[in-house]
Amino acid sequence: MLKKWLAHPLTRNLDLDDPRVTKLRQQVIRQDAFLSQIYVSWYTLLGNSIPPGVGQIVELGSGAGFLSEHVPGLITSEIFFLHGMSLILDGQKMPFAKESLKAIAMTNVLHHIPAPRQFFSEATRVIRPGGVISMIEPWASPWSKLIYTSLHHEPFDPQSDTWEFPSSGPLSGANMALPWIMFHRDRGLFQQEFPGWRVERITPLMPIAYLLSGGVSLRQLMPGWSFRAVERLEALFTPLLPHRPAMFAHILLVKSPEP
Ligand SMILES: C[S@@+](CC[C@H](N)C(=O)[O-])C[C@H]1O[C@@H](n2cnc3c(N)ncnc32)[C@H](O)[C@@H]1O
Repeated sequence: MLKKWLAHPLTRNLDLDDPRVTKLRQQVIRQDAFLSQIYVSWYTLLGNSIPPGVGQIVELGSGAGFLSEHVPGLITSEIFFLHGMSLILDGQKMPFAKESLKAIAMTNVLHHIPAPRQFFSEATRVIRPGGVISMIEPWASPWSKLIYTSLHHEPFDPQSDTWEFPSSGPLSGANMALPWIMFHRDRGLFQQEFPGWRVERITPLMPIAYLLSGGVSLRQLMPGWSFRAVERLEALFTPLLPHRPAMFAHILLVKSPEP
């Protein structure tokens, strides 16, 4: 009953993989001043991590987001047709020339890619030396495990012994624990399989702000003016708590310059 009431009225009865959901989520994010400030804080991290120099910047799975307003010259993309996108493409097979990009940016996309090895092989081909993959992704902490397994609708399986997962669709198919698996649990394996990439930094983020916002699938739960206070509380208290609670992380990978 409560779950039904909390579901966002714009998307409540729609199938997650229906492109109309993504279109409507653009409105959901724009109309929710708290949630849109969360996106702005993510976009600031992504924007600041793009290296100078030659090469294009591509966002995968742009969906309902608005990163193009924060990163000049960004090429947006989606795996299905969505009005306003620069390109339709699958991150597992990208239509770019060798070493033509300086950055791939993603917000909550890697954990939806069913064959992440294929994505990283492609990224290795299309990104130039010194270029980056910069992403905001769900992160596994004791706190987020509790939240993601009890309150969230997407699959979260930190025990999975493979990086791959069967996909039911571009939004419903997922393993939210995948970024943590690849860059924390299996970091040695990642380095072994993709030695051309250095994990430059992983910054755990946002233990409560996204939860309080209700995200993209629930109705607005917090007024926009409260965002700064929540952000300050997170900055003050998170470092003091054990096991660094975080629901997300900014993950920055840098492609090694050629020898
Ligand atoms: C959770 S949504 C995030 C959308 C948007 N970036 C945001 O933050 O609101 C995940 C996005 O990844 C896209 N996606 C899923 N599989 C993909 C793939 N193989 N290649 C590119 N994008 C993919 C989906 O279509 C969807 O738009």
